[in-house]
Amino acid sequence: MLAVIGGSGLAGLGQMKVIRREIARTPFGEPSGPLIFGQMNDAPVLFLARHGPGHILAPHRINYRANVWALRQAGATDILAVAAVGGIAGNAGPGVIAAPDQIIDYTYGREHTFCDGSDRTVVHVDFTQPYSDTLRAAILNAATAAGESIVAAGVYGATQGPRLETAAEITRMARDGATLVGMTGMPEAALARELSLRYAHLCVVSNWAAGCGNSTTAISHDAIDSTLDESIGRVQNIIATLAGSFRVAS
Ligand code: HPA
Repeated sequence: MLAVIGGSGLAGLGQMKVIRREIARTPFGEPSGPLIFGQMNDAPVLFLARHGPGHILAPHRINYRANVWALRQAGATDILAVAAVGGIAGNAGPGVIAAPDQIIDYTYGREHTFCDGSDRTVVHVDFTQPYSDTLRAAILNAATAAGESIVAAGVYGATQGPRLETAAEITRMARDGATLVGMTGMPEAALARELSLRYAHLCVVSNWAAGCGNSTTAISHDAIDSTLDESIGRVQNIIATLAGSFRVAS
């Protein structure tokens, strides 16, 4: 079953028929909000708002372990992680939708493993390719089928937030090879890998990152909000088409 974790600008799935909501409990505490079980394009879909109802959780406060655990417990096999990001590379301007293929983690102090040695043995999970190839291919196919253009590669740099970055930090990240910047991609992706879930990102660029494009002196929150408003319909189209590919053959 496909699970969608919705980030900023995606508090729900417009085309989802909601069947029930469930407050999940996990050995790691409670997820960000209720799990929403529903149906989309004749396939079962699970939705979770990453920042909680009302967007109240800051990126470093999100219980990523509870979120990922709860989704697996509810039967998810695949996680589509939707995230608003800043664009660093020239092909990542506001309004662009991208499916990155790599991650650089700049976060700190987050609970980033299920296996910290306290009651489970330590696991050094392979993370060479942080995203599932299978799910990425399905996303790219869904975008094509939905007639939406998508940048088919990229390096997602995960920063701590909640503040936006300085221009010098973005310059350093660009030197590192990051093409997109967001605050929630890690440890979410690594936790999904620890549970052997297929995980991939669908990023929507809401602004040029600090120092890039028209963000040389500041980043406008109004512009972020309006770009997200304009783009989210295209994201929803891709998700609905992707959901259809999870239809169980009858
Ligand atoms: N930086 C980090 N996270 C973000 C940004 C950004 O510029 N835009 C949206 N999420």
